[in-house]
Amino acid sequence: MKTAVGRALISPEALQSRVSALAEEIVASLPPSPADLTLVAVLSGSIIFLADLMRRLPMKMRLGLVTVSSYRGRATQPGPPRFEATALPSVAGRDVLIVDDVLDTGGTLRLVQREVSTAGARSVRTAVLLRKNTPAAREVAVDFVGFDIEDVFVVGYGLDYDGLYRNLPYIAELTREENTALRPLG
Ligand code: IMP
Ligand code: MG
Repeated sequence: MKTAVGRALISPEALQSRVSALAEEIVASLPPSPADLTLVAVLSGSIIFLADLMRRLPMKMRLGLVTVSSYRGRATQPGPPRFEATALPSVAGRDVLIVDDVLDTGGTLRLVQREVSTAGARSVRTAVLLRKNTPAAREVAVDFVGFDIEDVFVVGYGLDYDGLYRNLPYIAELTREENTALRPLG
C-alpha cells in the first residue's frame, strides 16, 4: 500500500490559536494555585502539542512522560495497548493533566487515566488535541478537546505514520492507494 500526505485539515495558524484558547480554558478550570500540578504526556505523538500547550500554562508544574504502544509500524488498526511509565515522577496526591494527541478508539487514554488514578493522583483531567468522530471516542471522558475531526488517519504536528511526518507544521490526512501490492512500499 502506497501512502502520501493528503489534504491539509488544520493549518499552523489554526493550531496555534486553538492551543491558546485551550490553555485559557485549562487555566480557568484549575484552582488559582493548583497543588503540585503534573502534566502527563503520552509519547510520542503529543510532543509538539505538549510543547505549545505547556508554554501557555503559567502555573508551577512538573512533567511526566509515558508511552502507550497500540499502533505497530505500518498498521493503522490498533492492537491491545501497553503502558510504560517512561519518565514519570510520583503523581500520588498531585493534580494531573494528561496530554495526548488524538482520541481514536480511546484505549490509550482509558489506560493512562486508569494508571494515573491507581498511582494515587488527587485529580485527573485530560486534554487531547484531536478527537475523531467515532462512537468509541465519544464514550471516553475528556475535559479539553482541541478539534473534533472526521474519522480519517491524520499526520503532522507530532502525529506519525510509520514514524514519519511528525515534523509537518500542520495536520493533514494520510492518503492510501489500495491494490499496490506488487509495487514497492514507500
Ligand atoms: P486510541 O487508543 O485508539 O484512542 O489511539 C490513540 C493513539 O493511537 C494516539 O495516541 C496515536 O498515537 C495513535 N493514533 C490514532 N489515530 C491516529 C491517527 O490518525 N494518526 C496518527 N496516530 C494515530
Ligand atoms: Mg499517541
